[in-house]
Amino acid sequence: MFNSILVAVDGSEIGHRALEEALDIARAMDAPVHAIHVVQTGTYPTLILSELEPLDIAQQALLDALDREANEFLADAEREAAAAGVRMTIHKRWGHPGAEITALAQELGADLTVVGSHGRGRIDRFFLGSVSSYVVDHATSTVMVVRVSP
Ligand SMILES: Nc1ncnc2c1ncn2[C@@H]1O[C@H](COP(=O)(O)OP(=O)(O)O)[C@@H](O)[C@H]1O
Ligand SMILES: [Mg+2]
Repeated sequence: MFNSILVAVDGSEIGHRALEEALDIARAMDAPVHAIHVVQTGTYPTLILSELEPLDIAQQALLDALDREANEFLADAEREAAAAGVRMTIHKRWGHPGAEITALAQELGADLTVVGSHGRGRIDRFFLGSVSSYVVDHATSTVMVVRVSP
């Protein structure tokens, strides 16, 4: 039995599969779902935006584009949840995706975290993606790693 579910979306097909699985489980358990998208701002978990030098125009434009993209991913997730009759809260975060996902899961007291096995690149790789493997290693909740069916 899960009482609160967190799903991580990244705009990829497999991230979308993760969302669908999370919605199915939520519906079966009458549990609310939280969806997170992290705008990746740095390579290291500890690096946060305010510690950076003032951004130049190109960097700012890139962050703005990523921010708009994040809003779209989360709006899509919200639409799907509404269509499935599941209560959803969306969360947009900045920083290291794995670190932000596991921190939010703890903050919310989520007892299930759902991620896709891979992201927006190739999905036929043997090893899990870097975000999913970080979440598997660091989460304090149960983690479900959704894979694309062959
Ligand atoms: N920026 C992100 N914000 C939220 N979730 C993410 C983000 N990046 C990846 N994820 C989640 O992690 C899963 C695996 O992606 P990832 O580890 O980045 O694989 P890859 O290395 O193939 O890009 C995705 O399906 C999604 O559930
Ligand atoms: Mg990725």
